[in-house]
Amino acid sequence: MREHSELRCRTISMNNGRSIPALGFGTLIPGLPDTLLATSTALEVGFRQFDCAERYRNEEAVGEAIQDALREGKVRREDLFIATKLWNNNHRPERVEPAFEASLDRLGLKYLDLYLIHTPFAFQPGDEQDPRDQNGNVLYDHDVTLLDTWKAMESLVDHGKCRAIGLSDIGLSELKPIYESARIKPAVVQVEAHPYLPETELLEFCKEKGVVFLAFAPLGHGMRPGPLEDPVVLGIAAQVGKTPAQVLLAWAVQRGTAVLTTPRTAARARENFDISALPEDALDEINRIQTRQRLNPVVTTGIPGFIPKGG
Ligand SMILES: NC(=O)c1ccc[n+]([C@@H]2O[C@H](COP(=O)([O-])OP(=O)(O)OC[C@H]3O[C@@H](n4cnc5c(N)ncnc54)[C@H](OP(=O)(O)O)[C@@H]3O)[C@@H](O)[C@H]2O)c1
Repeated sequence: MREHSELRCRTISMNNGRSIPALGFGTLIPGLPDTLLATSTALEVGFRQFDCAERYRNEEAVGEAIQDALREGKVRREDLFIATKLWNNNHRPERVEPAFEASLDRLGLKYLDLYLIHTPFAFQPGDEQDPRDQNGNVLYDHDVTLLDTWKAMESLVDHGKCRAIGLSDIGLSELKPIYESARIKPAVVQVEAHPYLPETELLEFCKEKGVVFLAFAPLGHGMRPGPLEDPVVLGIAAQVGKTPAQVLLAWAVQRGTAVLTTPRTAARARENFDISALPEDALDEINRIQTRQRLNPVVTTGIPGFIPKGG
């Protein structure tokens, strides 16, 4: 990991010889106008890592914000790190490249810095993102393995429009066999992580193998009660003169993870970008928090917990 004087500008080396800005902006935002505005604001404030997904149904709005910033000369493409994700209905190998190309097209980009398999769960192949039977049960696809899908992801890297590939919403026991079998090793693993779900074992594995651990829900999805209102976090925030959100984001970056946050207003975007390093004893104190809570059930079923409706 390269050290920068400013925590917010820290980057983490990836196993493809490139690096990812540690502090990232997540685009799981309901509605296209709000997505466009929030993404433009995030770019303006200084975020350079962006996390998208076909499932968020707003890639065109993220793309518009990025294209505007590029056209106006506010950023250069090479300074941006853009990731998106393959959804569960596209796990069949022959569906991977078309899904990738469609995302690229909606984002208006020529290449992606990172493409992730959104969850390890394959749903019935087709255009329906949320296929259900008449009783409302999800229709899974048992005729494709995660390794089959991974091999199709590897081909995207071979073809040159995708610089790195990875996985999301995956546990260590499912990650290990993919890691062992992969010709192109996962560069990034994106999972829920915050002081109530530190995922220490997975983080250790990732550090040992040179896989970037990318944390979502660093603010506990903003849920209250939750990490934002934890007494330890509130105490440290008061002590260092930062907000609870800034404390949680700094902790995430200082423990060596990349992180995704989704501020929707300009004030919160500035706040969440303006992080600075916490003293060691504050990090230790957060590491000693005993509360354990998973907030997003997506990892157990592949069914997203926080997807905008009808977007
Ligand atoms: N791989 C997956 O399955 C998966 C699942 C979920 C999320 N993600 C990714 O992770 C990104 C991050 O989403 P998240 O929910 O995990 O983000 P988060 O930053 O942990 O939580 C966002 C919530 O926190 C609130 N918030 C933001 N800044 C705040 C601040 N400074 N003070 C107080 N509250 C604040 C927001 O409220 P307001 O909306 O009111 O501003 C929102 O309710 C998503 O956009 C997406 O890209 C991935």
